Amino acid sequence: MFPEKIEKAFGLHLEAIQLLQNALSTSFIEAYIENVENVLDEYQVRVQNDQPDEVTTKQIEGLYEALQEQALEPEEIRKLSQLLLLKGSKTEQLQPNHQLTPDGIGFLFVYLIEQLFAKEETLSLFDPAVGMGNLILTALTNLTLAKRVVKGFGVDIDETLLAVAAADAQWTQSDLTLYHQDALQDLLVDPVDVVLSDLPVGYYPNDEQAQSFLTGVSEGHSYAHHLLIEQGMNYTKENGYGLFLVPSNFLESEQGTQLKQLFTEKVYLQGIIQLPDELFLNKASRKSIILLQKHGEYSKQVPEVLVAKLATLKDPVKITEFFTQFEDWKASNLV
Ligand SMILES: C[S@@+](CC[C@H](N)C(=O)[O-])C[C@H]1O[C@@H](n2cnc3c(N)ncnc32)[C@H](O)[C@@H]1O
Repeated sequence: MFPEKIEKAFGLHLEAIQLLQNALSTSFIEAYIENVENVLDEYQVRVQNDQPDEVTTKQIEGLYEALQEQALEPEEIRKLSQLLLLKGSKTEQLQPNHQLTPDGIGFLFVYLIEQLFAKEETLSLFDPAVGMGNLILTALTNLTLAKRVVKGFGVDIDETLLAVAAADAQWTQSDLTLYHQDALQDLLVDPVDVVLSDLPVGYYPNDEQAQSFLTGVSEGHSYAHHLLIEQGMNYTKENGYGLFLVPSNFLESEQGTQLKQLFTEKVYLQGIIQLPDELFLNKASRKSIILLQKHGEYSKQVPEVLVAKLATLKDPVKITEFFTQFEDWKASNLV
């Protein structure tokens, strides 16, 4: 359940987006971006070539007037944005590799980052497949609420999804720098403390470029998710961490050998957290969060790799049990 003010804002924004979508004949996502840009422009309806028409503009202005009466905090805005985007994805099917990362999973990433880094450190975060930005914004807004100083960087190959991330970053007043490009090419990002990503699962079409990665295969297409793990860790500081959402069978897959080579030569595989079965339609689509650490002066392979399975995200008792397991493991394994 969401607080009443988020529910109310949701209804008003949804109506404004639908009015814009009809008046401008665009997709839901494009109308969503238009709406956020209007909000950021102090709730002014942008009119170009007499579109939206006068009647629609007046209707939207009425909705904006009601919205201006409510002040929402950055994390409330992010939740609102997620609800709107989820609503939009019900009418316009997004392919699984384009869907935003749900809160339940995002909050686990936040918990892990809080556990891995001392409170006084300023943290830099990077998502090489940032999409609509929900995962990294969940991290940025919630870490800020936990009194951390954070900044983020994101890359995505899809211009429209990235435009949503850019609009939402501004709307939630998050320090997020975004780049539109293929994340498997050279990047302009300085090494960060933690790389986090809900990776696209599938093949990367550029075989030549894949050859520059340990996880690239010599024949046929390489797995994009494996290459992105390696690339993410290339842009992580020494001793820094990588948190990636991957298919649970990642080690047994046909390209698992190349991935194991990466885990031997450049990064330590420190933990595997299997997400609850209830989140996925079938066995093949189940996912885990893997915890990687880059080689460096202060890092080493942990004596005992964390292998945990979360039974559910719905029962606070089970979640607390996992937190205790993680904290016990951390105390005896991480330096
Ligand atoms: C599951 S989505 C990420 C969702 C995101 N965490 C969110 O909350 O909105 C995976 C993303 O990977 C992007 N992607 C796929 N191949 C890529 C590549 N080579 N470089 C950068 N981004 C890529 C897709 O465009 C998509 O946005």
